[in-house]
Amino acid sequence: MHRVKARVESNVKVAPGIHRLRLSSPEIALEAEPGQFVHVLCGENRDYILRRPFSVHRVRNGSFDLLIQVVGRGTTYLSQLEAGDVLDVTGPTGRGFEFTGNFKKGLLVAGGIGVAPLVFLAEGLRENGKEIYFLYGAATREGLVCLDDLREVVQKIFSVTEDGSFGYEGLLTEFFSEVFEECSPNRIFACGPEEMLRKVAASTAGTVPCQISLERKMACGIGACLSCVCRTREGYKRVCVDGPVFDASEIIW
Ligand SMILES: Cc1cc2nc3c(=O)[nH]c(=O)nc-3n(C[C@H](O)[C@H](O)[C@H](O)COP(=O)(O)OP(=O)(O)OC[C@H]3O[C@@H](n4cnc5c(N)ncnc54)[C@H](O)[C@@H]3O)c2cc1C
Ligand code: FES
Repeated sequence: MHRVKARVESNVKVAPGIHRLRLSSPEIALEAEPGQFVHVLCGENRDYILRRPFSVHRVRNGSFDLLIQVVGRGTTYLSQLEAGDVLDVTGPTGRGFEFTGNFKKGLLVAGGIGVAPLVFLAEGLRENGKEIYFLYGAATREGLVCLDDLREVVQKIFSVTEDGSFGYEGLLTEFFSEVFEECSPNRIFACGPEEMLRKVAASTAGTVPCQISLERKMACGIGACLSCVCRTREGYKRVCVDGPVFDASEIIW
């Protein structure tokens, strides 16, 4: 893990309340694996002591992208950064997705901002010659911010919006079984709200291996404070270092 002063190369508002930040750091860009995250100091005064965790969204030529949804003070600070500003970042951190094994088809399931690590994963799967299907849900069409990037990488995208403004209307979990049957995947990879992950895990139990990326509020980000634990069949585990990616069958919901 590195601690770097990463220069902001660009900050693009891709939808209301969602920004794509490109940060320059050859060290992090070189080492990051899909599913890992970085820990970002969001400001310099005492109000911002705790770093905020963000998935590595993509890696490009010595830089990496974050896809950030504005929900509070730290993310508001990040959304206001300009090219040339410098951020204190540690990472890459945590256990990412295992995706290089001997299988043919992967189904990726993303709810809302949960798409962030799955674009990086889709690119990794493609480099490994896998067939990729993508079930992508958001509240509205505007929230499906990665459709164009994904079209270049995956075989087929199944879009779902809660208001019906694009794709199927409803929650993506309502369409999971149908999509699963159509694609017959050998692996599932999911990231999004916990209730979505729980339902995907339940639907796949005993069928195909399913990996999920969990979110917890984090303090230290290095496995020391235990603020981020989740319950597993082997006892409590720390999402920051034992995860954030887990085999879904491990988790006690
Ligand atoms: C491993 C990991 C990867 C993540 N990747 C991304 C990502 O790629 N893009 C992204 O936009 N967000 C991501 N998050 C969530 C992100 O870390 C939080 O939204 C962020 O820390 C909020 O900071 P804030 O100061 O703006 O909000 P705060 O002012 O701290 O809180 C505002 C609101 O956000 C909620 N919140 C705060 N932290 C979290 C959290 N960790 N999980 C869920 N809700 C939270 C609070 O309960 C509160 O309601 C990730 C979280 C984890 C644990
Ligand atoms: S955030 Fe401290 S142990 Fe995970």
